[in-house]
Amino acid sequence: MDLSLKQIRVEKTPHSRIKSVNFDKLPFGKEVSDHMFVSNYKDGSWQDPRVVPYQPLSLEPSAKVFHYGQSIFEGMKAYKDAEGKVWLFRPQENQRRLNTSAKRLAIPEVPAELFMEGLKALLEVDSDWIPTSEGSSLYIRPFVFASGTGFHASPADEYTFIIATSPSGAYFGGKIGVKIEEKYSRAANGGVGYAKAGGNYAGQFYPTQLAVKEGYQQVIWTDDHKHEFIEEAGAMNIFIRIGDTLLTSPTSDRILDGVTRKSILSLAEAEGIPLEVRKVRVSELVAAAENGSLKELFGAGTAAVVSPIHSFGYKDRRFELPELPESYASHFKKRITDIQYNRAKDPFGWRYAVK
Ligand code: COI
Repeated sequence: MDLSLKQIRVEKTPHSRIKSVNFDKLPFGKEVSDHMFVSNYKDGSWQDPRVVPYQPLSLEPSAKVFHYGQSIFEGMKAYKDAEGKVWLFRPQENQRRLNTSAKRLAIPEVPAELFMEGLKALLEVDSDWIPTSEGSSLYIRPFVFASGTGFHASPADEYTFIIATSPSGAYFGGKIGVKIEEKYSRAANGGVGYAKAGGNYAGQFYPTQLAVKEGYQQVIWTDDHKHEFIEEAGAMNIFIRIGDTLLTSPTSDRILDGVTRKSILSLAEAEGIPLEVRKVRVSELVAAAENGSLKELFGAGTAAVVSPIHSFGYKDRRFELPELPESYASHFKKRITDIQYNRAKDPFGWRYAVK
């Protein structure tokens, strides 16, 4: 597919909503910008790439997304630097991962040009929606779903690819407490845990509601077999610091290959921070909390950036994490956001200029 920006039809809204948004006090993911990018898959190809006003969709009740959950998404952000220039962070990683998810859910892959050129065309039209206040960015949500119809349990013949955006502040507000899950599972071997499938998230809501009732914000998922090993936290990958060693679980069938996760691993390696990518037992975490060698627990993800975890619960016990003046979490958050907002050199070539 050879798609240049010229082939993307652009229809601008006559009624911008931008003045109704308080850019100084942005929640995460609630406000939506004026436009969205859309393309439809029909007769074996992606067609009619267009930027149009953000609007409701018209779908048949028999659209397969409603019945069989053929739905995948990505999470990205656009950043504006002090000169007003617009940047993305490792967008090719999201483009590739969308297609990894697509393959697993029997959804046709989205060509790289369609993804990148569609995204750039959208950002050009809605560049005023990229916030500049500290800690805010334009959250980008590319997603693909089965818009083709029929109750037969088989892949649809039509799909819709949309990129919508949301000027957003921090994902978490306040201190984060997590519960280590011992009953429910997020993913199993051979399943779809590594994909960004909508259903992966739906399956987490009920166990998370139970954890919230117990005073936590998030669940830490453990392996589905015996609930012995730390895996991930659903909206983020998990890092553990014991002594000065940084630990995280290897990716697998069950764990999302997070872009922020792999960026932290590259930074830690380059900086000589002792690093172990290996399975971590819950019992090892609890023992480290008991003997005082557990220094940090933090989550990493596009939405969450790098989020320190202040306490964790396991069985009927709750463990508080120490407040460190110089934490790995704040160090990595600064290094990554300095690159994202063009405040520092980019030795890995992660920053991507939007023309
Ligand atoms: C992201 O970090 O962008 C994600 O996709 C997580 C989502 C649940 C907010």
